Amino acid sequence: MNDKLRSDDRPIVVLGASGRVGSVVAHQLLKANVGVRAVARHADKLKELSEQGAELWPGSLLDQAFLNRAFAGAKAAFVLTPGDTLSPNLHDEQRQYNEHIVEAIRAAGLTHVVFLSSWGAELSDRKGTIYGCYLMETLLNSLPSLNVVHLRAVWFMDNFIYGIGLIKMAGINGLSIDPDFAFPCIDSRDIGMVAAAYLKRLDFSGKVIHYLQGPRDYTMNEVTAILGASIGTPSLRYLKFPKAVMIKGLKSSGTISANVAQLLAETNERINSSSVHGEPRTAHNTTPTTLDKFAREKFAPAYSKAPAATVLQKLQGAFLRIYLSIS
Ligand SMILES: NC(=O)c1ccc[n+]([C@@H]2O[C@H](COP(=O)([O-])OP(=O)(O)OC[C@H]3O[C@@H](n4cnc5c(N)ncnc54)[C@H](OP(=O)(O)O)[C@@H]3O)[C@@H](O)[C@H]2O)c1
Repeated sequence: MNDKLRSDDRPIVVLGASGRVGSVVAHQLLKANVGVRAVARHADKLKELSEQGAELWPGSLLDQAFLNRAFAGAKAAFVLTPGDTLSPNLHDEQRQYNEHIVEAIRAAGLTHVVFLSSWGAELSDRKGTIYGCYLMETLLNSLPSLNVVHLRAVWFMDNFIYGIGLIKMAGINGLSIDPDFAFPCIDSRDIGMVAAAYLKRLDFSGKVIHYLQGPRDYTMNEVTAILGASIGTPSLRYLKFPKAVMIKGLKSSGTISANVAQLLAETNERINSSSVHGEPRTAHNTTPTTLDKFAREKFAPAYSKAPAATVLQKLQGAFLRIYLSIS
């Protein structure tokens, strides 16, 4: 059955194919001569994949007819639940994406799916941003004949790139995670490699959970030292943000809604309390890319490209730094 599946030349659907994980999945499949249907809203961001032979499927996950066409006749799929940082109600948006994707899987009669899930996806309460992954795992598990791998990935190292504006403005790194609490972080490229390997082999059956936990655990103090060194500022300091200050800061960026800011702060709280956690570390759940490598290859180039802070932003940053230092 699996040998037959592997040799069948129907394409594999890759959702979020222009994103951090989906793009790696799509590139790896194309490299192995597996046909890819690359799905995302903006066709321009899929151009490179199309030049390498992927079928371009520009469209929205909220368009059921489009999704049904994208999944029809496919052999398998890589799926994820994206989130719009400006969403007024992220959980509701995630629910809608999930329901549309699962309906397309059901209508196409797919037998094999890899889902980009998250640590904490076993938690059914509505705290934090991870709830959408709980919903999706539940929906996928309800399809009796579907073989599915839930890749429960931990905190993406890529999230640290969002701190670049703060570093330029205030000369500090900050989140509301405790400074000395060690937690696992993963480079999103490693998730794409594991997902692609599953989709090339198609040798999984039933409902499988695979945690992906990065190379080791890091504290925010360690993270900040590594990121700081990569941008020539080894003395970069980490300051923990009180929850309310973090929410205010996220909202004032203009790119994050009040609802998403609240949920992100809740996710930080869940990390501090260990209610979101991985499983004991093993070779199976450990991935190779270190934070030092991520910092050299992704963080430092992103820092160089980001605009300098304005004089006003630097002034606001100085006040923030003083406030956080004394509070
Ligand atoms: N960040 C973390 O720490 C973390 C940890 C564990 C799990 N995760 C999971 O990782 C996932 C995000 O993966 P990622 O970082 O690879 O994503 P990403 O880089 O943010 O990319 C999102 C992709 O989805 C597409 N997309 C977004 N909205 C869409 C829509 N409405 N219709 C069709 N396509 C859409 C985007 O392209 P267009 O914009 O062109 O549509 C893009 O290709 C989330 O589901 C999250 O649960 C994240």
